[in-house]
Amino acid sequence: MRFDVITIFPGMFGAVFEPGVVGRGIERGLIELHAHDLRDHTHDRHRQVDDMPFGGGPGMVIKPEPVFEAVESIRPHNPGPVVLMEPWGEPMDQRLAAELASEPGLIIVCGRYEGIDDRVRTALATREVSIGDYVLSGGEIPAMVLIDAVARLVPGVVGDPESLTQDTFSNESAGWPQFTRPAEYRGLGVPEVLLSGDHARIRQWRRQQAAARHGSQTKELKKS
Ligand code: ADE
Repeated sequence: MRFDVITIFPGMFGAVFEPGVVGRGIERGLIELHAHDLRDHTHDRHRQVDDMPFGGGPGMVIKPEPVFEAVESIRPHNPGPVVLMEPWGEPMDQRLAAELASEPGLIIVCGRYEGIDDRVRTALATREVSIGDYVLSGGEIPAMVLIDAVARLVPGVVGDPESLTQDTFSNESAGWPQFTRPAEYRGLGVPEVLLSGDHARIRQWRRQQAAARHGSQTKELKKS
């Protein structure tokens, strides 16, 4: 699966995705991640990507031309939808991550400044996605959240596929409390059942714990 990100801070993405699960997916050729500098699609000496808003008001607005031209230059390599990261977009959740993971690729546009010319939204973007009801200073961190959530669903990216099916949100038996050695630490023990070797009891205990922790969310997801 191929991710193309359009941003004025392309350098942010390497630092986040080189290490870890997504980085391994890139190394193994399962994922391609390309961060494109919006300024490379300007034609003036100052490589200006923003301008004053029509109608007045504070701040600057990202111009339409570099965004349209960036998407057009990427399009031959990526047939996927154009996702615009905006705080008022549809909420990012596990269901949306799974839906996006079924695409051959995504072209992700990161907003900045006071906003982005609305013609990008109406004539270029396929959908708008928000990572939560709060305003960040740009779409880069939201884009990273989306890429991480989607990339780990690409087959083979997460080494042990069982850890995907055991993920919180993926099914009922998810999100139970985990422990590792030592069995006692600073006077804090580990539930006896986990040390019992009785796998039927362990399964049952985990199911109960997961239901108590995430019951409402997992039920919501099961309905859909
Ligand atoms: N850009 C700024 N805030 C955002 C948010 N919460 N989600 C997506 N994009 C954003």
